[in-house]
Amino acid sequence: MYLHTADGRRIIDAISSWWVNLHGHANPRIAAAIAEQAKKLEHLILAGFSHEAAEELAARLRKWLPSDLRHLFFSDDGSTAVEVALKLAVQHFQNLERPEKAEIVALAHGYHGDTAGAMSVSDESPFTEPFRSMRYPVHRVHSAYCYRCPLGLTRENCHIECVGQLEKLLEERAAKIAAVIVEPLLQGAGGMIVHPVEFLQKVRRLCTKHDVLLIADEVLTGFARTGKMFACDLANIVPDLMCISKGITGGFLAMGATLCTDRVEGAFRSENRTHTFYHGHSYTGNALACAAANMNLQIFDDEPVFDRIRTLAKINGERLAQLRAMHQVGETRQIGTMGAVELVADDAGYLSGLRPKLYAFFLDRGVLLRPLGNVVYVLPPYVIEPDELHRVYDVITEAIETLL
Ligand SMILES: Cc1ncc(COP(=O)(O)O)c(C=O)c1O
Repeated sequence: MYLHTADGRRIIDAISSWWVNLHGHANPRIAAAIAEQAKKLEHLILAGFSHEAAEELAARLRKWLPSDLRHLFFSDDGSTAVEVALKLAVQHFQNLERPEKAEIVALAHGYHGDTAGAMSVSDESPFTEPFRSMRYPVHRVHSAYCYRCPLGLTRENCHIECVGQLEKLLEERAAKIAAVIVEPLLQGAGGMIVHPVEFLQKVRRLCTKHDVLLIADEVLTGFARTGKMFACDLANIVPDLMCISKGITGGFLAMGATLCTDRVEGAFRSENRTHTFYHGHSYTGNALACAAANMNLQIFDDEPVFDRIRTLAKINGERLAQLRAMHQVGETRQIGTMGAVELVADDAGYLSGLRPKLYAFFLDRGVLLRPLGNVVYVLPPYVIEPDELHRVYDVITEAIETLL
């Protein structure tokens, strides 16, 4: 859990170093697995060749993934996993001689990475502002941000009307649309926005009805952040394409993967060589990253990881209930291991003036938290002890009392 600074302080990493770490820093089992692998094979071109660690990882992932997602394409990180999904969706229709079906739909408040394609499907934000000219056009539709409902409804009296905008768009334009991309149930960098399960279920039904592919970007939510191995499991839906990264190696090495169904992959099975998916990164399927990922999944198999997650989620729930009563708190949100507090602020948003003050306050007290503007969230490695997590919430409570 701890980062040790040069001047001898200890800092609790309460955000898993940008949401990647699952089982603690320098986890000895993962470290040993990488060392073992390095003595056998460090890396191998994954075009025309394969290696044991990659084959093992594909087989291990299959155990956890919906059985329809049978095909896996390795890449380097979350952004490239997204790029691959978008390109697969577009070329899928191209190969089927439906090139007009090439447009993408994405959600308001979405974040999918910092490369050009991933930035295009991400919503406008300070991250994308200087790069307007590099972002290709996409359709942007409402997300289910209940606290700031785009339709002015409240969750108690709504029937997920926010999905109506997507419904209308698909009714009018599905012939031109290849895919809808979503962060399932939890929009991360956009403000830790938790969606009602019904929203994702409705999106799935609409995509099916209109013959549009659904891409679930599970880069953040994957590997049990939401309490289930994948957020799509919580909603009981299967996307056509899924992007995974971050926690895949337990937070040790960069790796991304994009999964897809027989239907998507089928369009690439062809004698016609122009139907090939010409996309490959040098370090695709890196053997050391695969070894780390295999050990990560082994830890899920033989340590009580889901018990740890349940304990963590329970504490999140209890402490958020206390915070909700504070007048400085607009809303609290939780899904599994993620707990968030949206603070009342005149300048709500990523550039809120609260952010630098909060960040420094937390760090001064030995807690690494990086608020998303006026949204403070906790997303710790699963090995956090209950007293450490309580300490993180104590510091958040103190910050709200002191700074707001
Ligand atoms: C949902 C989601 N997709 C994609 C990415 C991009 O991942 P990476 O930073 O590994 O490129 C992120 C990163 O935060 C993310 O949260």
